[in-house]
Amino acid sequence: MRSHYCGELSIEHIGATVELSGWVHRRRDHGGVIFLDLRDRSGLVQIVIDPDTPEAFAQADRCRSEFVVHLQGRVRERYAGTENPSMSTGRIEVLAQSLQIISRAETPPFPLNDDFANVGEEVRLRYRYLDLRRPEMLQRFRFRSQVTSRIRSYLDRHGFMDVETPILTRATPEGARDYLVPSRTQPGSFFALPQSPQLFKQLLMVAGFDRYYQITKCFRDEDLRADRQPEFTQIDIETSFLDDQQIMDIAEGMVRELFADLMKIDFPPFPRMSYDEAMRRFASDKPDLRIPLELVDIADLVRGVEFKVFSGPAQDPRGRVVALRVPGGAERLSRGQIDEYTKFVGVYGAKGLAYIKVNDLAAGLSGLQSPIVKHMESVVFAVLERVGASNGDLIFFGADKAKVVNDAIGALRIRLGHDLGLLSAEWAPLWVVDFPMFEETTEGEWTSCHHPFTLPRGTVEAMMADPGAAKSVAYDMVLNGTEIGGGSLRIYDMDMQKAVFQALGIDAEQAREKFGFLLDALSYGAPPHGGLAFGLDRLIMLMTGASSIRDVIAFPKTKTAECLMTQAPAPVDNKQLRELGIRLREKDKTE
Ligand code: AMO
Ligand code: AMP
Repeated sequence: MRSHYCGELSIEHIGATVELSGWVHRRRDHGGVIFLDLRDRSGLVQIVIDPDTPEAFAQADRCRSEFVVHLQGRVRERYAGTENPSMSTGRIEVLAQSLQIISRAETPPFPLNDDFANVGEEVRLRYRYLDLRRPEMLQRFRFRSQVTSRIRSYLDRHGFMDVETPILTRATPEGARDYLVPSRTQPGSFFALPQSPQLFKQLLMVAGFDRYYQITKCFRDEDLRADRQPEFTQIDIETSFLDDQQIMDIAEGMVRELFADLMKIDFPPFPRMSYDEAMRRFASDKPDLRIPLELVDIADLVRGVEFKVFSGPAQDPRGRVVALRVPGGAERLSRGQIDEYTKFVGVYGAKGLAYIKVNDLAAGLSGLQSPIVKHMESVVFAVLERVGASNGDLIFFGADKAKVVNDAIGALRIRLGHDLGLLSAEWAPLWVVDFPMFEETTEGEWTSCHHPFTLPRGTVEAMMADPGAAKSVAYDMVLNGTEIGGGSLRIYDMDMQKAVFQALGIDAEQAREKFGFLLDALSYGAPPHGGLAFGLDRLIMLMTGASSIRDVIAFPKTKTAECLMTQAPAPVDNKQLRELGIRLREKDKTE
């Protein structure tokens, strides 16, 4: 039903007869002549229908926004002065000879043309198929499709095999809650939707597939944020007989190729930073290196001061005291703004936000403006020297348990970077490496930093002797402060895997019950293996500059994990529940 797409017509087609199909983007009547902007996925073109073709004219007269039409016409040059430079087809128009309405449309719940503005996300998601008609949305999905196509090409060229793994499976421990699916054939038993294909990809390495990839859905029932969805897509990768450097090189090569091909950006090799260094300098395991502000530890200097707010955490092995120097901040940040930042860090649990305005270093104490200097006069200049303060700077301080300081001052650093327009580059990729093997929960138990199949550096004995100090061979790729991918080398030795389960408090019986198949597999000749997974949606979000992950997923869920269009999740009838052997509690029925 078409000879051309609307958007591909140009002055080269002048004189040609064309057949077009698409949606009426806008209709205008101009003294007896009707203009339609016709839209298809390639773009827009202006159609002119004049009364000399009465049948076409009558049809065009009935057209409204979003009607689907089919037409034949002749391409002609626009009259001088009526060209539209903002349209790629703005120098031509199509004079319709015939036109049929194929499909009528109700008035859309929001305008899809240039009048689209301030439309709430809820209504966009309810009528997602209309929202996706907007060129801006279409453009993101076209880009997403180019990305996956190039990823496949890159991985094919590097000898990777695309293998599908099950969606109905058992729990995979990636740290989130599972989505469960009840079994009809085994009442009382449940499948879990995969949080990742982690275990299956390891089993494919035991199977000898050597290099695997899959672009696949993962499911995690966790609290949602702007960069998280309950159902999202991973570019999942696993390899055998490669070390961590080689795996990182392959993954980095892929991302660099994507940026070079699709965005004409050539990244130099990504810097690699240890987890410890990232936490120390940026208070984050996914530092945004576009922001040139750094934390400086000062606990050793303030350990003895009378100011308990500082000396307390300075003496606490789990405490941290840091300074954050904002060059020029003394002039740029008002008292009101400092109060606002004090509230902001409060959200992260900080009890206050001490600061020093450095007005005139040569004037000694009287050159400093601060609510805390009087409590720490003996060390204040040592502190200022350590942070490299100069006149006009503002120094913020955080003192508390290390976690609170890291969360609060880490977030403040990012906020200041944006508020003060300090971003020094458009893109800042890096690898964060040498993660701790375990982290301690608030209950004092160990959990995996990555997942329980990650290979520790060093021996079983060393790891068991001091789990808190053990490092893993794990790496995350970070772009502009967002973790876009992460992975590790895996344990391929059954004894090591058992020891890690033990350190995690998973006893032998539980380990057998949950991961017996993995332990068995490791006993049948497992190659050294490792890999990583990228969050495709996050990567696309960054590459397209979208402000939410929902804008790069065709049919996303809301923050409360619902689909507003299909109204999923939804109640099911009793018959279906009975077949599954499920009875709802009275309370849940009425809710
Ligand atoms: P991890 O849990 O780090 O590792 O996940 C890999 C990447 O997936 C993305 N991601 C998400 N994206 C959107 N919404 C979510 N809820 C979400 N959760 C994670 C992130 C993250 O970097 N099996 C391991 C990988 C491996 O070891 O090979 C894994 O899943 O960008
Ligand atoms: P106070 O002694 O409570 O009046 O606090 C003096 C200054 O220290 C104020 O500017 C507070 O905002 C700041 N402050 C209080 N607690 C902390 C903390 N845990 N970390 C950093 N600054 C703090």
